[in-house]
Amino acid sequence: MKTNSSFTEKQINPLQSIEQWEDDVLKRYPEPNEPAKAPEEYRNYQDPARDTVKEFYRLNHQYQSYDFVMEKKKDFLQFNRKEMPVWKAMEFLNTLVDDSDPDIELDQLQHLLQTGEAIRHDGHPDWFVLTGFIHDMGKVLCLFGEPQWAVVGDTFPVGCQFSDKIVYPEFFNSNPDAKNETYNSKYGIYSHGCGLRNVTMSWGHDEYLYQITKDYLPEQALYMIRYHSFYSQHRENAYEHLMDNHDRKMFEWVKKFNPYDLYSKNPVPPNVRELKPYYEDLISKYLPATVKL
Ligand SMILES: [Fe+2]
Ligand SMILES: [Fe+2]
Repeated sequence: MKTNSSFTEKQINPLQSIEQWEDDVLKRYPEPNEPAKAPEEYRNYQDPARDTVKEFYRLNHQYQSYDFVMEKKKDFLQFNRKEMPVWKAMEFLNTLVDDSDPDIELDQLQHLLQTGEAIRHDGHPDWFVLTGFIHDMGKVLCLFGEPQWAVVGDTFPVGCQFSDKIVYPEFFNSNPDAKNETYNSKYGIYSHGCGLRNVTMSWGHDEYLYQITKDYLPEQALYMIRYHSFYSQHRENAYEHLMDNHDRKMFEWVKKFNPYDLYSKNPVPPNVRELKPYYEDLISKYLPATVKL
């Protein structure tokens, strides 16, 4: 029985932990002043870690269709699962157990505090610091039983042609939208320069947290939250044709945020107890006393 169920679990959730996706993004976009990893190193398909990431993308690209996103929105945007203060939600997120490598992996709360602290260290406005601190809170979706490929991974527009600038584009051949004439042209259901507010993105922790915070944070912060995993645009400019001038201006902030997300990981864990009062203050300045998940 055990073998059977773990086989199924592995099929649904191939990554050892959701961090494995981010570690892979880091290999794709290494820190500019760090010696770049040789392309062969990144594309080493013999590496078992690569296989799990590849399998993860296969599932993500196959199942993230327009209808799938609509279904998830209908369900999760009712916010009828839990209600709690933001700090508690972060602690709840931290119950996501990481079974990959407990010695070197930081937990969720530590990654978020390090992101916030790196932003604070550079003297950015307090809402930017808060954004760094909460940006992955949407990963609580994992705790509601959602598969990894519906929580993390690069995000991309649905309802129009999938760009070949998205990692492993060949896996989109198995997505039903690739054969649907309404969705498989360059613009699909959209029009030139229609603006991203009119574009539906694949479903995951980014869109979910955007929907939770959209009434409370400055627009720059909301762009960072909503599009932080949209690598095919903020790194590759693949969806320029759907953006308007306002998006372009706002994406300067998404680009400003990205290095803090990717490159702030530090093996020294932050002191949660010392930092808590500062972040509790920030939370109460911008966000309601409780959030509905
Ligand atoms: Fe994220
Ligand atoms: Fe992150």
